[in-house]
Amino acid sequence: MEVITEINEMRARVLSAKDRKRSIGLVPTMGVLHDGHISLIRSARKENDEVVVSIYLNPTQFDNNDDFDKYPRQLNKDIDVIRKENADVVFAPCTEEMYPEGFCTNVTDDRLSDTMCGRVRPGHFNGVSTIVTKLFNIIQPDLAYFGQKDYQQSAIIKRLVTDMNMEIDIRVCPTVREEDGLALSSRNGRLSPEERQDALCIHGSLLKAREMFASNIRDAKEIIGEMTSVIKDAEYTKIDYISIVNADTLEDLSLINGKALAAVAVWIGNTRLIDNTILE
Ligand code: PAJ
Repeated sequence: MEVITEINEMRARVLSAKDRKRSIGLVPTMGVLHDGHISLIRSARKENDEVVVSIYLNPTQFDNNDDFDKYPRQLNKDIDVIRKENADVVFAPCTEEMYPEGFCTNVTDDRLSDTMCGRVRPGHFNGVSTIVTKLFNIIQPDLAYFGQKDYQQSAIIKRLVTDMNMEIDIRVCPTVREEDGLALSSRNGRLSPEERQDALCIHGSLLKAREMFASNIRDAKEIIGEMTSVIKDAEYTKIDYISIVNADTLEDLSLINGKALAAVAVWIGNTRLIDNTILE
């Protein structure tokens, strides 16, 4: 496996793969890999000749300096994990090359980032769309892999490739969870044992939504009300948002009448966690 840090070298590697008609699968990450990331790498390994995993802690998608500073980093350990998964390349560029002096072009969407995380994290999805566009341009993958855990991010990227005529198939892979239901996240490591226990209310609230949906309740306000109670029952929680939206347009729903998404963002102490489930 090669570890590449320079854009030119990455481009040369891509050109040589394309010359040999080898398909390229890309798994973009910010590092500190857990089983959620690994599931994406395994899916990519099954479907592509070459698997590239990018590791780049993208500063422009953090709306809060403290979150960026506290975000864990472990490049060498990540490289070992990726090697074990038989990927072909780790692309780990530096910020001087990704955002050189004078950088001033950004990719933004006009609709999908208006709701949910976009509402509470201004600029976040512009940072994501911009860095993902840059990675797509450098690596030119045939397929790119994202997790359902960041549903809004996946929806924005799908729209981005459609709208910008990029010939890239976006695969959205299921959320990997701990045995007790907590979705894996690089931020889970910041939770104290008490907070870790409280964090279970997030999955609990989604199970509540599914249970109500299964018993034919379609009123979003009623479901959100019950989800709120589940989360408020835990001690260290503060709700950022609880939304029920159209799963394609991400518009808020009052009545569920098609494929919908229940999504939550909750502060557990000083750690913000998100999760979601499809209702259909
Ligand atoms: P990061 O948070 O490192 O996540 C990388 C990918 O792993 C994303 O597609 C995310 O949805 C997926 N992922 C995270 N937790 C998961 C879980 N429990 N189960 C399944 N997949 C999971 O998302 C980003 O990085 C960045 O925004 C990025 C796309 C790399 C752009 O900077």
